Amino acid sequence: MAGKNTKYVCQECGYVSAKWMGRCPECGNWQSFVEEFDTKRPNSRSYVMDDEKNGVPMKLSEIKMDREERIKTGIGELDRVLGSGIVRGSVVLVGGSPGIGKSTLLLQIAAAETLLKGNDILYVSGEESFRQIKMRAQRIGVEEEANLKILSENNIETIKAQVKREKPDLLIIDSIQTVYNPEITSAPGSVSQVRECSGDLIRLSKSKGISTFIVGHVTKSGNIAGPKVLEHMVDTVLYFEGERHASYKILRAVKNRFGSTDEIGIFEMTGDGLRGVENPSSLFMTDRKKDTSGSAVFCGVEGTRPVLVEMQALLSYSSFNMPRRMASGVDYNRMIMLLAVLEKNMGLQVQSQDAYVNVVGGIQINEPASDLAIAAAMASSFRNTPVPSDVAIFGEIGLGGEIRGVSNGEMRIAEAARLGFKRCLMPKSNIPTKGMRRDIECIGVDALADAFVAIFG
Ligand code: TYD
Ligand code: MG
Repeated sequence: MAGKNTKYVCQECGYVSAKWMGRCPECGNWQSFVEEFDTKRPNSRSYVMDDEKNGVPMKLSEIKMDREERIKTGIGELDRVLGSGIVRGSVVLVGGSPGIGKSTLLLQIAAAETLLKGNDILYVSGEESFRQIKMRAQRIGVEEEANLKILSENNIETIKAQVKREKPDLLIIDSIQTVYNPEITSAPGSVSQVRECSGDLIRLSKSKGISTFIVGHVTKSGNIAGPKVLEHMVDTVLYFEGERHASYKILRAVKNRFGSTDEIGIFEMTGDGLRGVENPSSLFMTDRKKDTSGSAVFCGVEGTRPVLVEMQALLSYSSFNMPRRMASGVDYNRMIMLLAVLEKNMGLQVQSQDAYVNVVGGIQINEPASDLAIAAAMASSFRNTPVPSDVAIFGEIGLGGEIRGVSNGEMRIAEAARLGFKRCLMPKSNIPTKGMRRDIECIGVDALADAFVAIFG
């Protein structure tokens, strides 16, 4: 029944077509078109604050900034990822797969003590009833504060009316896929609904100066369900990720208009809610076995914070013509390159070996500074000789087997020393210039061969 207002919308990317298609010409996904009925004019109002002059240019000096523009939540890991707190009137999208802990995180934000001082908060859930939210609140030990209010509602019109009445400083919507606009006939969670409802919420938050957190579910392909435009519309996009069974989760910014996207926040899921992990190095190092081959400790930096992680490698003789290679937590192409360097420069016959590299703890390492640690772990497994357990490693490897300097050298050395490592292997150019440290021996190398002599003797 194709009526006048019928259109077909790709549920992956939001591409609109007048007729049904098997494959989306925009994003290439198959069977992603769903029929939707358009009964509403597209919204085209702009994001102007109520107290601003609409359509009139202003000098910077005329723009008023009367309030503190950032609100600290007091949840250190979150404030760090946002860039020292929530920016007033900003919209933050929090994505993550089901069960990762989004609702828990947001309820904890809503109840964060520092935030509750002088700010009103409205937590809207379209997924849980009032009583379910109360049960969760009791589980994570939320005080029954007067300025935190809960609403269990799906209708965007009701939500908007309540927001206008309550005038909260912080609004939380859990989740955008469960909210619907009754004027649009397609189902909640469809592209049209997600786009319309989030547009409404963003306009509301910008015009009233309300900071808003919106939860978005993640599809199988790892994107936030609904149109990609959603990510363009909001100020900040956070992903909450981690392995389902691992108790710790990582909060990462993939877009941030008000801060860096390098920072990560690490949380641990406990019986009574999420707890920030302030000392990640010790978390990733706890189960490390000493004197096993195929393991090396890398001094990494995530954002502004040093993190020591264990790199593991397993090389074993392959029974296939095409040996298997698998990288988990590091870049696959980088690992292949390092295998080639080991073969060519160090004469290790690795081409007949299956090779697996893994970063312990499920954390993703993208720094080239991890090259030397990965190469050391692989060589250690190949030779069946452990890397001494008191050595921490960082440095980038060039194609010629040369070791290149990396940034934040001193921070990496200091973290290794703090965790009790006695020696640190690094590029020569990263050796601290201002005197040697007494607590840790810095070994500088400029070629892979020298590095291996230092490690394996
Ligand atoms: P939830 O926040 O509901 O995840 P999401 O909103 O992302 O779907 O919770 C995820 C899991 O965390 C759930 O399986 C139960 C568990 N959990 C705890 O282990 N401890 C707690 O204190 C809470 C509230 C939940
Ligand atoms: Mg939830």
